[in-house]
Amino acid sequence: MSESAYPSVTDLTLEEKASLTSGGDAWHLQGVESKGIPGYMITDGPHGLRKSLASNTGDTDLNDSVPATCFPPAAGLSSSWNPALIREVGEAMGEECIQEKVAVILGPGVNIKRNPLGGRCFEYWSEDPYLAGHEAAGIVEGVQSKGVGTSLKHFAANNQETDRLRIDARISQRALREIYLPAFEHIVKHAKPWTIMCAYNKINGVHAAQNHWLLTDLLRGEWGYDGIVMSDWGADHDRVASLNAGLNLEMPPSYTDDQIVHAVRDGRIAPAQLDRMAQGMIDLVERTRAAMSIDGYRYDIDAHDDVARRAAIESIVMLKNDDATLPLRKDAKIAVIGEFARTPRYQGGGSSHITPNRMTSFLDALAARGIDADFAPGYTLDLAPADPALETEAIAAAGRNDVAIVFLGLPEEAESEGFDRTHLDLPAKQTDLLRRIAAANPNTVVILSNGSVVTIRPWAGDAKSILESWLLGQAGGAALADVVFGDASPSGKLAQSIPMDINDDPSMLNWPGEEGHVDYGEGVFVGYRHYDTCGKAVDYPFGYGLSYATFAIGDVRVEKTSANTARVTATVANTSDVDGAETVQVYVAPGKADVARPVHELKGFEKVFLKAGESTTVTIDLDERAFAYWSERYADWHVEEGEYTVEVGTSSRDIVARVPVALDGDGKTQPLTAWSTYGEWSADPVGAQVVAAVADAGERGDLPKLPDNSMMRMFLMTMPVNSMPMLMGEGGKAITEFMLADYARRTA
Ligand code: BGC
Repeated sequence: MSESAYPSVTDLTLEEKASLTSGGDAWHLQGVESKGIPGYMITDGPHGLRKSLASNTGDTDLNDSVPATCFPPAAGLSSSWNPALIREVGEAMGEECIQEKVAVILGPGVNIKRNPLGGRCFEYWSEDPYLAGHEAAGIVEGVQSKGVGTSLKHFAANNQETDRLRIDARISQRALREIYLPAFEHIVKHAKPWTIMCAYNKINGVHAAQNHWLLTDLLRGEWGYDGIVMSDWGADHDRVASLNAGLNLEMPPSYTDDQIVHAVRDGRIAPAQLDRMAQGMIDLVERTRAAMSIDGYRYDIDAHDDVARRAAIESIVMLKNDDATLPLRKDAKIAVIGEFARTPRYQGGGSSHITPNRMTSFLDALAARGIDADFAPGYTLDLAPADPALETEAIAAAGRNDVAIVFLGLPEEAESEGFDRTHLDLPAKQTDLLRRIAAANPNTVVILSNGSVVTIRPWAGDAKSILESWLLGQAGGAALADVVFGDASPSGKLAQSIPMDINDDPSMLNWPGEEGHVDYGEGVFVGYRHYDTCGKAVDYPFGYGLSYATFAIGDVRVEKTSANTARVTATVANTSDVDGAETVQVYVAPGKADVARPVHELKGFEKVFLKAGESTTVTIDLDERAFAYWSERYADWHVEEGEYTVEVGTSSRDIVARVPVALDGDGKTQPLTAWSTYGEWSADPVGAQVVAAVADAGERGDLPKLPDNSMMRMFLMTMPVNSMPMLMGEGGKAITEFMLADYARRTA
């Protein structure tokens, strides 16, 4: 860090250092006034600024916050597959933080949507770590480009709300490395967040806040992280253990800094460890000082509302559009049905709840366009049973118009931080109403509002078109009108699979755990990695989404760029007479592998905007990691030698080209031992020489000859060589001894 405005940790007393490792209150760092270190504000996030008004008052109303632009939560934004747009959202949030003097905004949250029932799926990005990391990096880059910090959360494995403060997430090292950590890893290495928030849960027996492996060995040691780690709110249960594990900051404070002082005095905390943790806090203050010193800054509300609207447009996924029902003619007679058209569901519940500075419902957007829609609420948003009068009114409205736009979705109580859902169904009163509306008017368009997946199959036949609009933030109504009337073509792609039935989900057998723990028994087979590997039908696959335009992807080439890397190029043409965007997705399919690998995995993507008739070329580089798996044997990433297939497509199920590429492999080999099978010896370059020597010795009569009938050979190949005596008695023992000695000689 360059010239600092603040004293270094060595200029502070023990008590002052200790005080830096907890907050000043629920939403502030603790300053050291006498030394000129300020106690800046830090607050939620993640899809806009939630500057709590409850700070020092004991008021716990999460919804009581300063008005700010409410951008689409990750549920929506993740469908944009557009990191540059996401960066713009981050830049706008950074500007709002400057105005409100907030030094760190608490987000983004990049935990994997392990199961669509997860209560916080609406604020997480994807079931796929590559997509989650490459999208959410945009938030970190955007916010921090303004001199304001982010807090990448919740590190790690916060994949459910059930028992979230205590649950022990038991995850194999391979699943951690391949699924639950890569989004964090990518962002730490490439976007460098200034802070990270640890999760509430335990990981393999140790609370995240006290997990030395997680916070120090992996994060700082392997990934080279140089920022600070704070606790989730109330996740620090042992100040001393946490500080020793690498937690810089306890939030909110438990006013126990004296515990840190005592622990340093009696040797339970090494002075150097406290210095490291406290210096991190001073560095954070230094990093944010310039932005926090700007006075009188005012962000441009209109410009930010425009960013929110563009972000919302790209968040919308068109799932179905029979008979080109959408876009609607501007002069079509429209019935608009559903309370959500008037009272939008635009964000999720809990700590991420933002007080929007504007709000455009779909009805507002129609009014702004001078459209006098025939509106009927159809149902109430509470849990009350269907209201026959509202239904009759809605069916009549549908019958007397050219088209019925029906808003369906999950009411606020159905999904929130704090609990997991128990099923994927929409409220029955909504789908029953839809059935009757479709009978009255077959030109029915459904617009969905939900933070995580809902089951679609049971009612899909009642809709000619379906727009999955997730949660769209404050400008969602305007964005929907843009799409419905064709001013913008839908371009969102699913960031999570839509299964036919929640029981198809691979994690269901271990969801949400029992007796304080949850086993991630599906390993790396999360979401489409399971559905595609097992050939399981889904309603809509990962990566899927329609457009008003049509596209052709062609001329797909894969060129090897080094021993284990490749470059993919493809042309994309807009073959229609409307402008639109297509997202080219690159999946890597391993060939024969030593471990069970998903049939393919997303390893690159690029969204391209093309005017009618236009075409372009995309280039996507695949690094060594794109082909690797985490080997528990090597405790490292491993690329096996052999043929891989690079797949280019527009969803995990719509692959338009498959191109083989042969990689050299990373050359990692495991030393052979008496416990290696004869087959493993034969496959190893040195082992094969030993095996040949055994055969030669057999020919010469120096060793017994190995059996040559096929059944015995089959047994032999899968047998550790220390079991040769079982097959061949004393002779087998001699062969084993010869092999081990010969191998030792050749590898000496
Ligand atoms: C949530 C965090 C949030 C924090 C502060 C916690 O309950 O898990 O995501 O940032 O509260 O509101």
